[in-house]
Amino acid sequence: MDQDASSVTSALAKLVAQQVERAGGWLPFDRYMALALYAPGLGYYANTSRKFGAMPASGSDFVTAPEMTPLFGATLAVQVEEALEQTGTREVFEFGAGSGALAMQLLDTLGKRIRRYTIVELSASLRERQQQALAKWGARVQWVSELPQKMAGVVVGNEVLDAMPVKLLVRKDGAWYERGVGPGIAWVDQPTDLRPPIEIEGTHDYLTEIHPQAQAFMRTMADRLQQGAAFFLDYGFPEAEYYHPQRSTGTVMCHRGHLADPDPLASPGEKDITAHVDFTGIALAAQEAGLPVLGYTTQAHFLINCGLVQKLEHASLAERTAAQRLITEHEMGEIFKVMAFHRGPFWDAVGFRNGDRTARL
Ligand SMILES: C[S@@+](CC[C@H](N)C(=O)[O-])C[C@H]1O[C@@H](n2cnc3c(N)ncnc32)[C@H](O)[C@@H]1O
Repeated sequence: MDQDASSVTSALAKLVAQQVERAGGWLPFDRYMALALYAPGLGYYANTSRKFGAMPASGSDFVTAPEMTPLFGATLAVQVEEALEQTGTREVFEFGAGSGALAMQLLDTLGKRIRRYTIVELSASLRERQQQALAKWGARVQWVSELPQKMAGVVVGNEVLDAMPVKLLVRKDGAWYERGVGPGIAWVDQPTDLRPPIEIEGTHDYLTEIHPQAQAFMRTMADRLQQGAAFFLDYGFPEAEYYHPQRSTGTVMCHRGHLADPDPLASPGEKDITAHVDFTGIALAAQEAGLPVLGYTTQAHFLINCGLVQKLEHASLAERTAAQRLITEHEMGEIFKVMAFHRGPFWDAVGFRNGDRTARL
């Protein structure tokens, strides 16, 4: 049974208040975001609310590509299969598997070509939901709660990097501050030496994010991926676009009941909090850890390169409508990107054959 939302929020608000006090009156935003999303039993991804689904009536808050249509996973499977062959591996590792929909789609499409499917899941309640959804695959699917020490296989992560806590930086009257949370769960800015990775032209007031946790995650993943490839799908931009002078209010956004709002301090635990991905920073972190980029493109190019349009020829009208949303420019086609990495020799990967944008990073 779902926990009562208001009791989750009040328990989480109490926990945040304790942590603020313990930290001397100020918590950086990334620590707040980590609590709001991942505090055991209370954080948005750690509590029992429904989260993923197509419509608000199901009690869900947002929809992700694998929830929209099984054609997403069936198309990604074309690239995963090629990557398994090219890297001589037989295992898939998925980070943050949500309802288990993508795992199901990849396993349904690739069958025995995947010898083992490991889900790295931080949330006990999501793990339970995935175990029910994937029961028919038996022991072929396994769960771990942290990044395995050694991985040989194909790594996938859909909308995982955007859920990693970010730091907030604010420029006010030409001076930089780190934005955090003070007593009463209110914004408090403190002077900082931290800066965005590139200079922000102009002297106007500016709010943005930096992503030390996502970059640390990439470095650890790069260290542990001994053989194989990794594919991350998410919304975001290269750094020149991310830190564009006109993007002056940042990208942090919350999602509840299929509505977006910009206030992460209200109703913690009841809604998702995300930030766009700085794909240049992700590529640099992996590359510095010895994991080169295989390709980078829009979700539309990637899925079309992998044969989505051909798959639609035999699809029903409803399936076609759902799949169109994955690739149309004003929906997910342009803002969502796919970035891949390879451990082992480079190959001309099918998903990036047309429209590769690595040079824009
Ligand atoms: C927006 S949801 C996406 C879920 C699913 N992949 C989908 O597309 O429907 C983000 C997920 O990333 C997970 N996540 C965040 N950081 C993670 C990490 N370091 N390792 C594994 N999962 C992580 C969260 O727990 C959450 O389940």
